Amino acid sequence: MEKININAVIPGMILGHDVVTKEGRLLFQKNQELSQKEIRTLKMWGIPEIIIVSESRNDPGTETRPKDQRARQFIDHWFRHNDITNPVINILYDICLDRLGKNLFEISSLFGKNREKTALPGQDKVGAVKDIRRLLNDRLKLPALPTIFAEINEAVQKPSCSGKEIASIVSKDPSLSATLLKIINSAYYGFTEKVESLQFAAMALGTRQVSSLALGITVVNYFKGISDKRINMQSFWRHSVACAITAKTIGAHVRGVEPERVFIGGLLHDIGRLVFLTVFPDDYNLLLSKLQGQGNFLYQLEPMSFGCNHAQFGSMLTETWNFSDKISKLIHHHHDEFKTLPQLEIAVVYISNWLVNATGIGFSGEKELPALNMNAWKALVIPPSLLDSIMKQVDRQVVETVRFFYE
Ligand SMILES: [Fe+2]
Ligand SMILES: [Fe+2]
Repeated sequence: MEKININAVIPGMILGHDVVTKEGRLLFQKNQELSQKEIRTLKMWGIPEIIIVSESRNDPGTETRPKDQRARQFIDHWFRHNDITNPVINILYDICLDRLGKNLFEISSLFGKNREKTALPGQDKVGAVKDIRRLLNDRLKLPALPTIFAEINEAVQKPSCSGKEIASIVSKDPSLSATLLKIINSAYYGFTEKVESLQFAAMALGTRQVSSLALGITVVNYFKGISDKRINMQSFWRHSVACAITAKTIGAHVRGVEPERVFIGGLLHDIGRLVFLTVFPDDYNLLLSKLQGQGNFLYQLEPMSFGCNHAQFGSMLTETWNFSDKISKLIHHHHDEFKTLPQLEIAVVYISNWLVNATGIGFSGEKELPALNMNAWKALVIPPSLLDSIMKQVDRQVVETVRFFYE
């Protein structure tokens, strides 16, 4: 007989006693073999620990158990800011455990070792608080986005914009056209026959969808140009693309969400952090040194160095680039601590970012998982049981989509 913490319970263990709730309700009888389902029920009822008779009737083997326990310890630590008895968190806990077992849980460092100082425009004395808005208008000279970006943006804002018009603008850039067609022909869009014309793509998918994709690819390409060794860009974009796909997948289940808008909001939500990191690497390293196990998050510390966090700064960038206000708002609020139910699309991007962080797809920079804001979750009105299939769908689509966007 052994008393163990509920988070260390694994399928196949045998109960050594009857388990009753605080109210006296019998949940399971002695000698019950526990599967994932029973373990989930025990967690949902807030049972903190149980007594087990033996590891398993079938003896699962001693080699796998230490690994399982290490995985659980890791996931327990990862979820320490969240309430494990909450049904949403509980399901995510199991998804993470499963992903960890399949080596799908990505733990890598966004920050490389190369810390040499490079004189980049707009870089001030390290540690001084920057007026980032002033810098954005003044000395922070990011290379201009290609003119094709402004052309697509301008065209798509017109109510009369046609697929033909977008196709003719995009086709001026052969590399953009090729990437766009590759993405459209990926399994994600599910065309049975190969799409070879942009005009047909715009007809089949809609002008807005094709334009959003073209704008997204242009921004990603633009940041490829200013990447450096300090950042694991692949990991960063995997996080961002996964957030975009998650947002669009959730959007398909929630009425009143425009899937393309949340896709672009998800794709660009951390763009402000990318600029902080590439333009002010030393300030960012300073912030990181202040993090060390304090239970702080980078987005809470960023204003100490930059006067605002990367979400607010990212929305300034997209405003500068003339993205619609609705997209800028999605970026602006993706780390908010909502006291009331947020607007639906804001909730979709917030939840998508949290889910992708929680399940370790790519890496955005935060080394701890913040507490899930339950107002954002409630705003979606989707059952927690959908999460498993949503994340499976995301997993299937991320690898291919990220390749098209980033490689
Ligand atoms: Fe973020
Ligand atoms: Fe993020």
